[in-house]
Amino acid sequence: MKTIDVCLSPELIHLYDVSDKTVVVVDILRATSCMVTALAHGVECIIPMASETECERMKSKGYIISGERNGQKIQGFDKGNSPFEYMEEDIRGLKIAFTTTNGTQAIEKSKGAKKILIGSFLNLSAITRYLLMSDDNILIVCAGWKGKLNLEDSLFAGALVDNLRKHIEPDCDAPMIARELYLSAKDDMMKFLSASSHVKRLNRLNIHKDIEFCLTPDLYHVIPILKRDRLVLL
Ligand code: MLT
Repeated sequence: MKTIDVCLSPELIHLYDVSDKTVVVVDILRATSCMVTALAHGVECIIPMASETECERMKSKGYIISGERNGQKIQGFDKGNSPFEYMEEDIRGLKIAFTTTNGTQAIEKSKGAKKILIGSFLNLSAITRYLLMSDDNILIVCAGWKGKLNLEDSLFAGALVDNLRKHIEPDCDAPMIARELYLSAKDDMMKFLSASSHVKRLNRLNIHKDIEFCLTPDLYHVIPILKRDRLVLL
């Protein structure tokens, strides 16, 4: 039986051998939710980048530059990190260079994995179906917040573990912790997350509607995968 594990913070990734694993990177609020939305709405590709400066340089190569730091759009960038910025018709065919506080850092740290997929509640069933078909061992990498773990990414990890539970063997206790958390939160995730640190941070920035949107299950049936340096649809 294939195994599953959950890396609750990118700071712990050195504890895992990712070379034979399919890694699912998750940053529910909001980076991976944004990436899923953008690709589902016809963006050609997204280059996830850790560095703000390197991302900015991509402008001269014809890329749209997008991203945030601490939840706020980076000054001078074309777009920020709200999924609602990636739903209009005019984003079709665009190439985007994207940098965020935690999400793109988690992708960077996951490089070396056999495959890297992008997960969110928005594409939970699509990711589940893919993992059920694949023989690879699985690692869910939660982006967290600046090295610390967070509730919303742990909840997604728990939801995915719950969906796969009859077909996988937990590699340590983290998948069980995440699943228990999800089971106690699933009936009202908005309420469960209301006191979480990033929900409070986004609310302070008057970013309210993104939160509910990012918790919507299965709005899109797409699977973003990292091919060389860019995310495209599988
Ligand atoms: C991140 O990568 O840290 C985020 O997605 C933060 C945000 O913009 O909500």
